[in-house]
Amino acid sequence: MDKRLSNLASEAAPFMARDRGRHPPAYAPGYKSSILRAPGEALVSFESTLSEKTGPAFGHNVIGALDNDLIHNFAKPGESAIGERIIVHGRVLDENGRPVPDVLVEYWQANAGGRYRHKREGYLAPLDPNFGGFGRSLTDSEGRYWFRTIRPGAYPWPNGVNDWRPAHIHFSVFGSGFAQRLITQMYFEGDPMIAQCPIVRTIADPAAIAQLVAALDMANAVPMDSRAYKFDIVLRGRRSTFFENRPEGN
Ligand SMILES: [Fe+2]
Repeated sequence: MDKRLSNLASEAAPFMARDRGRHPPAYAPGYKSSILRAPGEALVSFESTLSEKTGPAFGHNVIGALDNDLIHNFAKPGESAIGERIIVHGRVLDENGRPVPDVLVEYWQANAGGRYRHKREGYLAPLDPNFGGFGRSLTDSEGRYWFRTIRPGAYPWPNGVNDWRPAHIHFSVFGSGFAQRLITQMYFEGDPMIAQCPIVRTIADPAAIAQLVAALDMANAVPMDSRAYKFDIVLRGRRSTFFENRPEGN
């Protein structure tokens, strides 16, 4: 088949079924707010439509120069956010191990004290006037993304009597099809609060939890500036084999 046609066929191919065994159950009483919002009926699946398989598409012009720099994108000129400076980077891949290029990766987080810039946020830690807590990137042709930020602080939340969220960064990823949309959280290697967290504990498989923990990556640290953490993200794959389509992954 002509390569262009085979690429189009690949883009419209159906996605693999979600492996519900790796995802936490919707109803997890240890995570209190799941009790009311978990569906009471069995889920119903629909065939996905062509627009769900092929969209969305983002142009590089949607990304501003400081969008992937949370240390500066909310700061006054000449100032910067307070906290431990870090780089977070990784690749967005599908279940077949193929890089997913040109996808929008959005990330948001609390400041170094564990406080969000949000009007309903009530934690007593102070706001940092130079930190907004939001950024975004587009993956490159190899599925890579990277951004610069400060390490977020842990914060308490009203679940049990004394529950704290481990330091984490929220991620939203639009894949090359809406069916690949993923919203998740990234944790930091070595944080003792991960094992204590009631949300993390809804995940039964320790290997799945490990996939949410970014590894300290000193090889990509910037000396006298920032440490680095590596976090790869895997989206649903298309039900098309590596051999039939996109042999070079492009
Ligand atoms: Fe959070």
